[in-house]
Amino acid sequence: MYLNKYEESILNGEYGPIKAKALKALVKMGEALGADRLIEITHAHISGISYTTIGEAGLELLKELSAERVYVDASCNPAGFDLERWRLLGVPEEYYEKQIEIINSLRRMGVKITLSCTPYLIENIRPATHISWAESNAVLYANSVLGALTNREGGLSALLAALVGRTPNYGLHIDENRKPSIIVNIEPNIDPNEPSVLGSLGYSLGQIIGYGVPYIINFRRPNNLEMVKYFLAGIGASSALGLIIISQISPDERRLRRTDLRNLERMDLDKRNIKNVFETFNDVQLEDFDIVYFGCPHLSLNEVLHILEHVKNVRLPKGKRMWLTTSRKVVSEIMALGYNIDDLWSRGILLLSDMCPVVAPLRIIKVNSVITDSVKAAHYLRKLHGIKVTLMERRRILKLMNEIYSRC
Ligand code: F3S
Repeated sequence: MYLNKYEESILNGEYGPIKAKALKALVKMGEALGADRLIEITHAHISGISYTTIGEAGLELLKELSAERVYVDASCNPAGFDLERWRLLGVPEEYYEKQIEIINSLRRMGVKITLSCTPYLIENIRPATHISWAESNAVLYANSVLGALTNREGGLSALLAALVGRTPNYGLHIDENRKPSIIVNIEPNIDPNEPSVLGSLGYSLGQIIGYGVPYIINFRRPNNLEMVKYFLAGIGASSALGLIIISQISPDERRLRRTDLRNLERMDLDKRNIKNVFETFNDVQLEDFDIVYFGCPHLSLNEVLHILEHVKNVRLPKGKRMWLTTSRKVVSEIMALGYNIDDLWSRGILLLSDMCPVVAPLRIIKVNSVITDSVKAAHYLRKLHGIKVTLMERRRILKLMNEIYSRC
């Protein structure tokens, strides 16, 4: 692989043994994947930072790497609990200490402690820039909506890239690999504003198309573009796809004007695909849930405000909770708007930052059944924690919560 002078000098140890190791690992990875050189990145997003997923071995590695600082702007994915209210969630002290050690290691490295899986709502990523992002929904959003270029990195490869500001030049960093391989026609009467519907549509698409770059036509633009994240999160949960070209939305579509698409295979996605996914995730009766969960991927400010407005009269009984996961930024904005987080908690509505239930110690904090509007959450909660899950439309959940648990 071709390396420039700067990269050679890192490899030769001029910037210390950790950066040398990081570059060496990236070169090895790149050679295995057919990369001809390394390319500069402007940003990295690092996942795999929960103690539940990386355990003691991961913590030790991070502590070792934390002797060096990152070379580019870097953010990180959610951890296993809300760093402010972990005690109220029932997280044991020993678990808390381990998670904090991980976060402190990242902080020493200069990684921003954003703890959110929607870096695209926080960071300023310009189109056509090369980045190195882990977290599948974020990768799909970066490529498909922002028009940035990233492969689906793992947490470690994104961290190594952050340390040296380089990533191997292969896959979705190369224009040739961003051409569509199939045209997917979406039935026009599918609701583009309902997270569970968008997620199911994406999940079904990912199940059918294992690889390549689908070109999506007749996708109705949601009222708020960020809702596309549910479609992309569904795709990320059921496939290894990293880029979707969505007509009228994806910057990559511009390059198709001069491309002959007539010979591409075509397929349709319709309401039957969505129905099948809803039927797959249907374990929990409404009266049996421990948690009603919104926020996978993390909720935006608009979504939190919308949900809070709809649950203003809801008070959940002991043993039942509503979780809303979002970024710290959104929680501060909500507080600035006059909401009292403690008051919400006293009604069983837990506005949570910093965390993802999928990487939380759910069994320890006694969560066994979840109703959610997120197909990605349903998929991983069942697969990784063996938890009972039901996928339900957001508007239906909110309506039922009001009918059953309204204090008026
Ligand atoms: Fe985010 Fe966790 Fe879902 S990282 S996308 S809340 S599985």
